[in-house]
Amino acid sequence: MKHFLNTQDWSRADLDALLAQAAAFKREKLGDAMKGRAIALVFFNPSMRTRTSFELGAFQLGGHAVVLQPGKDAWPIEFDLGTVMDGEAEEHIAEVARVLARYVDLIGVRAFPKFVNWAQDREDRVLKAFAKYSTVPVINMETITHPCQELAHVLALQEHFGASDLRGKKFVLTWTYHPRPLNTAVANSALTIATRMGMDVTLLCPTPDYILDQRYLAWAQANVEESGGSFTISHDIASAYRGADVVYAKSWGALPYFGNWAEEKPIRDQYRHFIVDEAKMALTRDGVFSHCLPLRRNVKATDAVMDSPRCIAIDEAENRLHVQKAIMAALLR
Ligand code: CP
Repeated sequence: MKHFLNTQDWSRADLDALLAQAAAFKREKLGDAMKGRAIALVFFNPSMRTRTSFELGAFQLGGHAVVLQPGKDAWPIEFDLGTVMDGEAEEHIAEVARVLARYVDLIGVRAFPKFVNWAQDREDRVLKAFAKYSTVPVINMETITHPCQELAHVLALQEHFGASDLRGKKFVLTWTYHPRPLNTAVANSALTIATRMGMDVTLLCPTPDYILDQRYLAWAQANVEESGGSFTISHDIASAYRGADVVYAKSWGALPYFGNWAEEKPIRDQYRHFIVDEAKMALTRDGVFSHCLPLRRNVKATDAVMDSPRCIAIDEAENRLHVQKAIMAALLR
């Protein structure tokens, strides 16, 4: 059985087929690929875009979505094996995933890191536990990667550049300031998919402490060796932006300070100037800007950048709907 946990698990041909199907769903909204079928959307963290687009996507394909928030409107879940469950959790993932799979045809999971211990969080154990026990396909709705966002971004770039082949485009993934340490998921994903598509990718971040996990650097390196793109890391804003076709922004917490955020904060606070503004965008080759959203205006990017016709973040957000319909339809085939 095939899950959608990471794009890296899917062949390039399969990803291209998902993107083509998403473009078709964008042209023709309604279908019957989920007629009489259902998806459970399990949210351990808040969402606006993911919840709305999955619920509506299921509806538009003739199916139904059930939203569950463990610990809020559903029972808290235990993930450890062999534990004496005398704490908060009322049931074990071994029952939750198997019971849900008797009711629904797909399960979506959003489970962010706990932000205490990266060595543990990088195991992605909540998503993996659902995939282990579920007898229906599981979709990653953002854990330590965000593969649905990846496809939405690529579709927006293909639309903007008017070509499915993005090879040769200069892609800058820039760290931006945020008052709180955020998940690395979207950054891991942007690096993964941009290199997979054969772009010339620069990871721009303030210091080596902000470099992403080795697993995603290795994926990026393997991807460019296969796709013919390139991958570099830079701490220099001007040279990274110069000549860029795409600027993708995201904030994240420094991995060496995971769980020790009070110590990281004064370091992070020194790099507010990583904000995406008009002066930086002027260094690009008429480049486009995007972000997964939500975005704090005038912290991560200025009003002028967000309101510019070069900002494709709203197109990318819309594309979440279309790519997720393509993913659900493909997994149900
Ligand atoms: N980009 C994204 O996943 O948005 P939400 O957190 O609102 O779902």
